[in-house]
Amino acid sequence: MRSLDELLAEGVAGRRVLVRADLNVPFDPATNAISDDGRIRAVLPTLTALRDAGARVVVCSHLGRPKGPDPKFTLAPVALRATELLGSPVGFAPETVGPQAHTAGSELGDGGVLLLENLRFNPGETSKDSSERGEFARALAAFGDAYVDDAFGAVHRKHASVYDVPRLLPHYAGGLVLRELEVLQQLTESPDRPYIVILGGAKVSDKLGVISALLPKVDRLLIGGGMSYTFLAAQGHGVGDSLLDAERIEDCRALLAEWSDRLRLPVDLVVADRFAADASTETVPATEIPDGWMGLDIGPQTISAYADELSAARTVFWNGPLGVFEMAPFAAGTRGVAEAITKVDGLTVVGGGDSAAAVRVLGLDEAAFGHISTGGGASLEYLEGKTLPGLQALEE
Ligand code: 3PG
Ligand code: MG
Repeated sequence: MRSLDELLAEGVAGRRVLVRADLNVPFDPATNAISDDGRIRAVLPTLTALRDAGARVVVCSHLGRPKGPDPKFTLAPVALRATELLGSPVGFAPETVGPQAHTAGSELGDGGVLLLENLRFNPGETSKDSSERGEFARALAAFGDAYVDDAFGAVHRKHASVYDVPRLLPHYAGGLVLRELEVLQQLTESPDRPYIVILGGAKVSDKLGVISALLPKVDRLLIGGGMSYTFLAAQGHGVGDSLLDAERIEDCRALLAEWSDRLRLPVDLVVADRFAADASTETVPATEIPDGWMGLDIGPQTISAYADELSAARTVFWNGPLGVFEMAPFAAGTRGVAEAITKVDGLTVVGGGDSAAAVRVLGLDEAAFGHISTGGGASLEYLEGKTLPGLQALEE
């Protein structure tokens, strides 16, 4: 894989460089403001280096999962925030490809930076049809003489901007992608032990692959979040109105049978009578969720049991909130486990989107973690041992 440093060493003054970033940031639904700008900050070193070296920089990214052009998913506010953070103008093209965008690209001066509108407004970006993707990739590639991929959070997607563009342009990995890979390699190759993984998040179907791949490699796997309930159901417990993936109960039962020595489930829960910040709540044993109630966080005994396990760890990977941390009554689990991770003496990695946002939204000290990844899905697929299309394309 060639690196951004190698591109910089070639000299980029006056050259047009297309940068794929992951600027898929969360927005506060009440105010429409960016609620966590971590992904914008993570790509600043790449943009700064290219700008300062006199490149003409065109940046592209996806935002959310729009089904076509949709003003709710415009990257315009991201260009404004990037301008503030970069300390120099980041222009915005209100289309991704097309005459306006290409004119704006060709008018960039040395050190100029332009952000294109959301890649996913174009069906070619995510198409499963390689010729449709290829056509869109050619329009994107026309923005650059070189391509830099620093969108670690999207390297697991076989999308035009990630997988097809690097086949059309000299391609380089940005510093963020390289740093993320270095940490993930450390986790996979020879983690100091005990190695403990904490997995939360809502969907058990998204995590079964990585759970199966990690169980043989870790010393403990602690489960929390919405996916706990399918595991509890697999043990034969009623889960009330909690999130449940009935089709995965059998898979969870098989994992519990094989790995009971390594898997840990919540022992108590905070349950609510509805999904709302002002719902009535109670703390109950995990085996006694009342009918009509739903579990929305792990309880205090689980937090302290998990913190106990973590106190011995030398390597920790955490992905996925342990509860609905966006609502204050259900944030204690995520906060408690995150705080326990900050006390670990060893390599601690926060894997991705939601958990990284949780660290910042809960006001925890980012510097207390060894590494906060920008890619949830990407880091999980890497740990699962899958081939990541974006990395494969950079390696070719
Ligand atoms: C993410 O937020 O997980 C990345 O930006 C990738 O987004 P996606 O899951 O919509 O492809
Ligand atoms: Mg995602």
